[in-house]
Amino acid sequence: MKYFLDSAKIDEIKYALNNWKIDGVTSNPKHIKTSGKPFFTVIKQFSEEFKSINFPISVEINPHIKEASKMIMEAKEIAKLSENFVIKIPCNEQGLIAAKKLIEDGIKVNVTLVFTASQALQVGRIGATYCSPFIGWQEASGVDCTQFLSDMVIIYDNYGFETEIIVAAVRNGKQIVEAAVIGADIITAGFDVYKMSFEHPFTNRGLKIFQNAWDETDIGSL
Ligand code: E4P
Repeated sequence: MKYFLDSAKIDEIKYALNNWKIDGVTSNPKHIKTSGKPFFTVIKQFSEEFKSINFPISVEINPHIKEASKMIMEAKEIAKLSENFVIKIPCNEQGLIAAKKLIEDGIKVNVTLVFTASQALQVGRIGATYCSPFIGWQEASGVDCTQFLSDMVIIYDNYGFETEIIVAAVRNGKQIVEAAVIGADIITAGFDVYKMSFEHPFTNRGLKIFQNAWDETDIGSL
C-alpha cells in the first residue's frame, strides 16, 4: 500500500520523502491555509521542489466553482504548471462531468470528497486516476467505514477499473491497518498520524528494559 502525505508544508513533505519513503502528496484548501502561504506560492513550490522525480501531488481547484466548464478551465491552468500535478475535483454531478472531460484530455484527476460506493462506482467508470473516499470524518461520528471501503475494492476488482483508491482523512494506525487489510491502493494521512503509527509505548518500555540490562552487563571488548 502506498503512503501519500496529506500536507502543503514543503519541509514536512521533504522530511517524509527522504526518511519515510512516501509515494506522493495530497493537499486541499485547508492544508494550503495551514501552510500560511498564498495558494500560488505553494503550488509553484510544489512544482519546483519535486520536478526531478515522478511524484504525484494532488492540488484542489477553487471549491467555490460550481459549473463543470469553469472547473475544467481552472484545472487546466493548474495542470500545466507541473507534470506531477493531479487535479482534485469534488464528487458531485458537475465535478464528475468536469473530471470525465479532463480525463479524456489526458489530465490526471483525483475525485475527492467521496462518501458512498455509488459515488466511487462512477469515479471508476470514468477512469479517474484516483478516487478519494474520506473515512475520518464519518468515523469521528461513529460510522464504521470498513464495509464502504471493502465494497469499493470489490467493485473496482469486479470491473477491472484502473482507478486507484486513496483512503483519505485517515486519523490513526487502526484506520491505516484496516485500509491495508481491505486492499486499498493508497492511504493519505497527516505527518503526525504517520509518526504515531510508527511507535508504540511497549517499544519504548522494552527499550528501557534492554537499556537497564545493557548497563548491568559487562560488555567486554572485541
Ligand atoms: C485528502 O485528499 C484530503 O485532503 C484529506 O485527507 C482531508 O482530510 P482532513 O480532514 O484530514 O483535511
